[in-house]
Amino acid sequence: MTHIAQPRRVLFRPKRGRLRLVEMNIRRTRVPTPAKPEVRGGVVVADRYRIDGVLGEGKMGRVFEAIELETLNRVALKVSYLGSGDEPFQRFLREVEITRSVRHPNVVRILDAGRTDDQHGFITLELLEGRTLQEALHDGEDVPKELLLQQLLDALVACHDVGVVHRDITPKNIFMTVRFGRMAAVLIDFGLGKPVGGSRMTDPDDLLGVPTYLTPEQVLGEDVDARADIYGFGVVAHELLSGTRLFQAEETHAVLQKVLEEVPPRLDTVAPGVSSALADLVARCLEKAASARFADSRELREAWRAATAAN
Ligand SMILES: Nc1ncnc2c1ncn2[C@@H]1O[C@H](COP(=O)(O)OP(=O)(O)OP(=O)(O)O)[C@@H](O)[C@H]1O
Ligand SMILES: [Mg+2]
Repeated sequence: MTHIAQPRRVLFRPKRGRLRLVEMNIRRTRVPTPAKPEVRGGVVVADRYRIDGVLGEGKMGRVFEAIELETLNRVALKVSYLGSGDEPFQRFLREVEITRSVRHPNVVRILDAGRTDDQHGFITLELLEGRTLQEALHDGEDVPKELLLQQLLDALVACHDVGVVHRDITPKNIFMTVRFGRMAAVLIDFGLGKPVGGSRMTDPDDLLGVPTYLTPEQVLGEDVDARADIYGFGVVAHELLSGTRLFQAEETHAVLQKVLEEVPPRLDTVAPGVSSALADLVARCLEKAASARFADSRELREAWRAATAAN
């Protein structure tokens, strides 16, 4: 363990009054990062899956392409840096079980879960062909926006119906693929094994996820529920329909301040062709207080259908 003493800026939420950034001399205890799993090309995981290549890497895990040796099916295999203890692994398995109960064409299918030889948790997923919405937008691809948002809503309803909250709805976690000959947006990257936030202090350096896509309640370290995903839908809808990303700033703490305080411009003032009904709907998703948003994703879907039918 290393001890680091240095002034750091942290977001502090007093019992009363407004959230502010304070400079504090914090003595931090850095918990050692668990050793990265010994998984690489050619390695066979859990006697069943041969690793063939890397598909992506994030903070909490790495995603490989693999072949299930018995069936020769190609799968995506995601290893999580959970640490090697039993407790995190059992928690990981419980989350996998719940997430696996979501069965929907717009939600990635989890196939299997287990432990690598060096005791890290892994899941296998259906292998998707295509790329993320973030990559598509970055390349200027003309994505069918309304269809995509409709499918994202269907995915959220399927998740919320069984009590699964995604908590990280961003263009990086929406995968664009083809199913049955049609474009399909598939929600990936459920927070399996990720620690759930809940402290009053929020250290910008330690935040999980992309700050511009964090919900106000995540910035504040509060508990989140399905209304966090409704907000996430609002952020993605705003970005898709306006072509600009919300809450941009150079420094992380400035982004976080904007997430908490900046009211986004109404879509019908910045995006030509967006009706006032649709602009109202997105603005309601983006309310800072979860209680002011749609109560659940079914209610949002009804409102979406009415707003887009009138368009
Ligand atoms: N089922 C899949 N099929 C094909 N590619 C995938 C699949 N799942 C993930 N990927 C690829 O791997 C990348 C990372 O996956 P994912 O978003 O699940 O994890 P992550 O962002 O690395 O993890 P974390 O958010 O925990 O840091 C994706 O952007 C995508 O390119
Ligand atoms: Mg991701």
